[in-house]
Amino acid sequence: MEELGRKSRGAAWTGIPGVKLSAAYSTDLGALALVDCLAVLAQLPDETFDLVITSPPYPGLIDYHEQHRYSYELLGLQDRRADEIGPASRGQSRQAVRAYVEDMIAVFANAHQQLAAGAPVIIVVNDSKELYPEILEQSGLRLEERLTRHVNRRTGRRAGEFFEDVLVCVTA
Ligand SMILES: C[S@@+](CC[C@H](N)C(=O)[O-])C[C@H]1O[C@@H](n2cnc3c(N)ncnc32)[C@H](O)[C@@H]1O
Repeated sequence: MEELGRKSRGAAWTGIPGVKLSAAYSTDLGALALVDCLAVLAQLPDETFDLVITSPPYPGLIDYHEQHRYSYELLGLQDRRADEIGPASRGQSRQAVRAYVEDMIAVFANAHQQLAAGAPVIIVVNDSKELYPEILEQSGLRLEERLTRHVNRRTGRRAGEFFEDVLVCVTA
């Protein structure tokens, strides 16, 4: 990770041998690569990362490209909506939710591969469909702790009470 951070300063981020990545945005603190995690994680060498922190997409609920349209336009980010996992356009049919579960299992199984044994994987999610027990089990992650947090002011005051969980997992 240190190596990735160091090499990411400047416009290009191609610090991983054999993997072509470029930074969509970078500062002295590090770089942001806008990539399809299904495609890119699988190419990375084992134990590339020290930990993973993620807030995965909600299945069939939010059009993230629309929600973050300002950011895409202000930062000149490439439109990657065709790569979205669980896109709103696919809806929440059984088939669509199953595809989401399979994709998230693939993402975490790939991430597992790039982490040392026992490394932390922190997942922020509101798992109202109770999909994550299967996703964690199938991708080789063990839940250590579930922290519930109240979220009511993220994008303005929310009408109802909204809670999300922080799933503190480790690679099993
Ligand atoms: C719940 S949001 C979290 C966004 C951000 N981490 C935050 O907290 O504001 C889920 C994000 O996953 C992104 N996403 C969906 N499919 C993806 C994929 N295949 N590869 C990478 N990111 C993806 C969505 O575009 C969205 O920005």
